[in-house]
Amino acid sequence: MTTEALAGSVASAASAAYIVAALLFILALAGLSRHESARGGIVYGIAGMAVAMLATLALVIQSTVDGGAPIGLAVLLVAVVLGGAIGLWRTARVEMTGMPQFIALMHSFVGLAAVLIGWNGHLEDAPVAADLVGVHRAEIFIGVFIGAVTFTGSIVAYLKLSARMKSAPLVLPGRNGLNIAALVAFAGLTVWFVITPQMWLLVIVTIVALLLGWHLVASIGGGDMPVVVSMLNSYSGWAAAAAGFLLNNDLLIVTGALVGSSGAYLSYIMCKAMNRSFLNVIFGGYGIHASTGKDGQEELGEAREITAAETTQLLAEAKSVVITPGFGMAVAQAQYPVAELTRQLRDRGVEVRFGIHPVAGRLPGHMNVLLAEAKVPYDIVLEMDEINEDFPDTSVVLVIGANDTVNPAAAEEPDSPIAGMPVLEVWKAEEVVVFKRSMASGYAGVPNPLFHRDNTRMLFGDARDRLDDILRELAEVPEQRQPARRA
Ligand code: TAP
Repeated sequence: MTTEALAGSVASAASAAYIVAALLFILALAGLSRHESARGGIVYGIAGMAVAMLATLALVIQSTVDGGAPIGLAVLLVAVVLGGAIGLWRTARVEMTGMPQFIALMHSFVGLAAVLIGWNGHLEDAPVAADLVGVHRAEIFIGVFIGAVTFTGSIVAYLKLSARMKSAPLVLPGRNGLNIAALVAFAGLTVWFVITPQMWLLVIVTIVALLLGWHLVASIGGGDMPVVVSMLNSYSGWAAAAAGFLLNNDLLIVTGALVGSSGAYLSYIMCKAMNRSFLNVIFGGYGIHASTGKDGQEELGEAREITAAETTQLLAEAKSVVITPGFGMAVAQAQYPVAELTRQLRDRGVEVRFGIHPVAGRLPGHMNVLLAEAKVPYDIVLEMDEINEDFPDTSVVLVIGANDTVNPAAAEEPDSPIAGMPVLEVWKAEEVVVFKRSMASGYAGVPNPLFHRDNTRMLFGDARDRLDDILRELAEVPEQRQPARRA
């Protein structure tokens, strides 16, 4: 086979491999949409990435054999080995509670890569067909803009989610005007750059986009962070797609578009779940009145306490129990004693179910993953809409480390920063026990009147310790009923 023929075969094989990889990514997304198929989805994703990397490696080797500079191959190998090693090292150590900020940090890398690829596209000065010159320049400019917004936006999201920066929104005077001015400047500069591609224009758009990304996310309040995380996920996809256009890489375009559109759709679903308008969230429409929490909470008056022994008594006598977990369950790693308590109560004939709010925790599906990890049966884990109308017939609700997601102010106080957000209506049950360590407010920084209701009592302390206490107490309480038949 001649050298040209070999090069042609490698290029065709790589194109075919890219199509296979794209299909595997689509199967991965389909698999990840349900618990039962999620593991398969991950396997498809890994396989797709392996195929894509091998195909890229083959292309680079071929171009080196054809006389290309070996530095390209060397850089690729070093980047893959180093990046893979750092990735393995970090992901093996990250806690489930640290996952959202970890993902935000990953998005920032995608953004940075898009900026560097855009800059490289400009400096490289590769030959472009005459009728595509304008398109090429626009690709560079748009890629750098989206990448830079994603980069700083994701860093702020990382800092907020990891509590290195206050989750309260930054309120600059005329902030909507600032955002709109940045977008108008971007549009104008793009036209200018397409006409005369001068370096200083690229420098200016990079600075404007870096500031815009920072400002957009800094001015969004804590309660809206879930939408921001998935929105940045979407941006990182579009940044990758823009880089794909520049590099003429179909797989990057397809993958970027998949991530971009699925992230956008997830943001839309979350906005619906939280009763928010997407544009309002992006431009920081709510959360701006969020108080710092504690003082506001104290103004609501006294809260009544309950002991672990008294809670045990309530549970042992209950007909039905609903557990609504939140971020605190993840912090305390309390899913294991929760699962054990569930098993023991069911063995005693108590009906136990879970109510999961769509944004409970810090990641979509966070609670479902933890409960599945602790082997709580799927069929008793219900979505908010499935459980909400059952609260009036529930004997005891255990609110385990949840706060914003069970806040009646969302339903009853039109001026509350979380007004209109659907919540788990736990206060309608006969008795509510709230597990938390203090009277501090939740992520959105909004005081919670639930803690002061007549039927609510607070069980203070680390959720895991308190659940262990309850399990110990329960062992001493004689069984009063026949075990319920399991489904
Ligand atoms: P939060 O409102 O954040 O409340 C968690 C509660 O857990 C806190 O009040 C905290 O009170 C308590 N807690 C923390 N550690 C604890 C421990 N070791 N033992 C016992 N309690 C503990 O949580 P939520 O109800 O799950 O609501 C989620 C919030 O996060 C929403 O505002 C949501 O918008 C936001 N958010 C969600 C996502 C997604 S996609 N799910 C992403 C980002 C942000 P103490 O400190 O007094 O113990």
